[in-house]
Amino acid sequence: MSTLSGRRAVITGGAAGIGAAIARSFAAEGAHVVIADRDAAAAEQLASELGGEAWGVDLLDVASLESLSLEADILVNNAGIQRVAPIQDYEPEMWRRIHTLMLEAPFLLIRAALPGMYERGFGRIINLSSVHGLRASAFKSAYVAAKHGLEGLSKVTALEGAAHGVTSNCINPGYVKTALVEAQIADQAKTHGIPESEVLEKVMLTEAAIKRLVEPEEVASLATWLAGPHAGMVTGTSYVMDGGWSAR
Ligand SMILES: NC(=O)c1ccc[n+]([C@@H]2O[C@H](COP(=O)([O-])OP(=O)(O)OC[C@H]3O[C@@H](n4cnc5c(N)ncnc54)[C@H](O)[C@@H]3O)[C@@H](O)[C@H]2O)c1
Repeated sequence: MSTLSGRRAVITGGAAGIGAAIARSFAAEGAHVVIADRDAAAAEQLASELGGEAWGVDLLDVASLESLSLEADILVNNAGIQRVAPIQDYEPEMWRRIHTLMLEAPFLLIRAALPGMYERGFGRIINLSSVHGLRASAFKSAYVAAKHGLEGLSKVTALEGAAHGVTSNCINPGYVKTALVEAQIADQAKTHGIPESEVLEKVMLTEAAIKRLVEPEEVASLATWLAGPHAGMVTGTSYVMDGGWSAR
């Protein structure tokens, strides 16, 4: 028996990286997946491969999300971006963009999905936070602040949703092998004053006890369990997958 059969799952940022791995894993468990991504072509391609559907959407356009009604049994708030710079050089526009995409859009999507979930008495909200939802790193003011905010939003959703069969949880990976990490190697090298070839060892893996990147499929496996029938008593919590980083 597939654990997610009959479930409709909306995955933001589902066309690449962690989101795509989650979409594949959910579809393998029988879910109907909706790939929500600003890269509409990539979303279409993955959706047709998985027998799901694509939702080409730029989640920075939050005004359009205010009147949305979202049909979903499972909502994965995953779309995210990164910018590495010291606070005194951090562009205010970029700081706002990160908060819009990674905190305001999840709020609006949860708000749009809850009425249907409440009506059906079932819902799973899964928020892709980060070890940076629980710990800070220098030069990531916007990302760390947005992820800490997402942790709070997730807990409030858990409290409000409990009586309606809706759970809400965060997943908190360390560095995962995706384009988002590759894209920040140049920024990290510049900000830390080291060659790009040393960023992995000297910046990204210093805190983790296990010295490798997390695989997207490992994150997807946890998300699939959280979405499934055995996680009904799991809510308002944060599941760390950081190779021991936050054990320190
Ligand atoms: N990669 C990591 O090391 C890591 C670690 C911890 C947490 N996370 C979190 O996991 C999530 C996914 O990260 P990833 O590494 O898979 O990223 P990624 O860059 O590989 O993929 C992100 C996806 O989001 C989409 N996206 C970006 N902006 C969007 C927008 N405005 N509207 C709609 N879609 C948009 C992109 O098109 C892309 O498909 C993020 O929230 C990130 O913060 C990542």
